Amino acid sequence: MNVSKRRTLAWLGALALAAVMFASACKKEYIENRQEVCFQQEVLPIFQSSCTQSGCHNSQTREAGYDFSNYDGILKSVKPGDYKASKVYKIITTSFGIMPPSPYDRLSDEKITTIALWIKQGAQNNSCQVAACDTTSVTLSGSVMPIFDNYCNGCHSGSQPQGNINLTNYTGIKATVNDGTLLGSVKHSSGYVAMPESGSKLSDCNIAKIEKWIALGAKND
Ligand code: HEC
Repeated sequence: MNVSKRRTLAWLGALALAAVMFASACKKEYIENRQEVCFQQEVLPIFQSSCTQSGCHNSQTREAGYDFSNYDGILKSVKPGDYKASKVYKIITTSFGIMPPSPYDRLSDEKITTIALWIKQGAQNNSCQVAACDTTSVTLSGSVMPIFDNYCNGCHSGSQPQGNINLTNYTGIKATVNDGTLLGSVKHSSGYVAMPESGSKLSDCNIAKIEKWIALGAKND
């Protein structure tokens, strides 16, 4: 090998190394110290809201063989204790072919962290004690929006929200209050499509919060 070839190779090697170092420096660590993550209250709602749209990973379509509407189905994509080796973690953080795909939004950093931590803590099917239901000061931003964010907006957000219903802004939410579909769907009343679709019914406490906010005038508070 002549000198110039060797030099070129050395340069290419250095470039490749720099690229690898740059890429790993940019890779975010989705983990932080936190107490036990609760599968039933925190993790399952993320999957049910963001992965089980019709045609996706629900018990009917099982896209790519995955049903993310329940614990056993989710566990098939998880290596308990090792989030980085878990398929589901890779696919929600990858730069190529990320899930959920367009037109759905990428999961928030907070949700990715919750999933990573849950896997790191052993990926148990655990359920946590829920604090007593407090509906004394219910507001849209403090009480109702967090429910939508957790349980609904994997489907009801973005450029093509399911059912053409956007629950990320007041106008969209208010329309479902006015036509009665919001309460009807979360209470599973007859004549309405039960929500969340392919997920568990909201807890009595969460339904009570939505109901109280509506009774107080469904204000943009
Ligand atoms: C997995 C996706 C998905 C999730 C999660 C989801 N929805 Fe829906 N939602 C849909 C689809 C699809 C429709 C349209 C259904 C139809 O028209 O048959 C819909 C329709 C609705 C409707 C209209 C219902 C009616 O009777 O006309 C309301 C209101 C609604 N959703 C609210 C919610 C709320 C509130 C949540 C969370 C508690 C939620 N959705 C969670 C997919 C979802």
